[in-house]
Amino acid sequence: MSDEIKTIGVLTSGGDAPGMNAAIRAVVRKSIARGVKVKGIKKGYMGLLNEEIIDMDSHSVSDVIQRGGTILGTARCKEFTTEEGQKKGAEVCRKYGIDGVVVIGGDGSYRGAQALSKQGINTIGIPGTIDLDISCTDYTIGFDTAVNTAMEAIDKVRDTSSSHERCSIIEVMGRNAGYIALWCGVANGAEDILLPEKYDFNEQNIINNIINNRKRGKTHHLIINAEGIGHSTSMARRIEAATGIETRATILGYMQRGGSPTCKDRYYASIMGAYAADILCDGKTNRVVALKHGEFTDYDIDEALAMQKDIPDYEYEVSRLLSSSSKVI
Ligand code: ADP
Ligand code: F6P
Repeated sequence: MSDEIKTIGVLTSGGDAPGMNAAIRAVVRKSIARGVKVKGIKKGYMGLLNEEIIDMDSHSVSDVIQRGGTILGTARCKEFTTEEGQKKGAEVCRKYGIDGVVVIGGDGSYRGAQALSKQGINTIGIPGTIDLDISCTDYTIGFDTAVNTAMEAIDKVRDTSSSHERCSIIEVMGRNAGYIALWCGVANGAEDILLPEKYDFNEQNIINNIINNRKRGKTHHLIINAEGIGHSTSMARRIEAATGIETRATILGYMQRGGSPTCKDRYYASIMGAYAADILCDGKTNRVVALKHGEFTDYDIDEALAMQKDIPDYEYEVSRLLSSSSKVI
């Protein structure tokens, strides 16, 4: 087999994330600059199996960098988790002359890329998820926009919570990871920050904090709760019953995944997209692009999937100190 890459495919998979379009644009334009043709695969692995494949040129990615979502569409595809589905995916690639695929998505999407690579199609992953839960990288596309969107929304809830002297529980996304909750908890000056990685399920502590704060004259109490803990509405009911203070739950939901990407998401996604195209055109396979210690790099997918990630201890300690300081003044 000739190792020369003549045509590549690009797809987005799993949950969409602001900045994915910047990554697609960079993949397309960098590949074309290297003399490689590009095909867009719509709706993730589902679109691959259904042969929803389009030719892309430089113009296909004009006027997209500022748009949220993904111009290629995305999906979750159960069939692709089976060996039969993966073989079919590789056959479709061969049918369309696709020698390699750039997959923009999270851990699950990387497993799909790993499987496709085993079937003889070169693959490179780019971290695209608002959750920041990919172990090998310090940055994932969409996180920066999502935390800024959530932060602005939380400021607004805080205003009304203060006016009404209420307690507010605001639930943010992140699947099983607490990074969005941690960042918003610190950036919004929350009184309590509940992270799935650290939560001890001791609601009485939270209730005591609220009562003590109120005695000291605080007019609001802001609790940032991570989706991985959930149950914000029932938590609000229990807190109100125990404290006698009006308590409201707000679940921010999908608004966190939409909107125009921040400068950081556009910039980093652009660099990662170009990097992925470069290493794919160089003949690399089964790799993922990462930002580690301020440098863009790449890892073997098997190695990347075996890595562990946790909330950094020092950042967690600071978040505890800053939220608890408001309880002791
Ligand atoms: P994310 O990529 O954001 O983590 P998912 O976990 O939903 O999102 O994965 C996206 C898609 O990747 C799945 O719908 C499926 O098509 C594919 N995928 C997930 N896990 C595997 C697997 N073990 N093998 C092959 N494909 C997988
Ligand atoms: O992975 C991104 C994310 O928004 C998570 O924060 C959330 O748990 C999940 O996707 C929701 O997925 P769906 O779009 O399938 O409801």
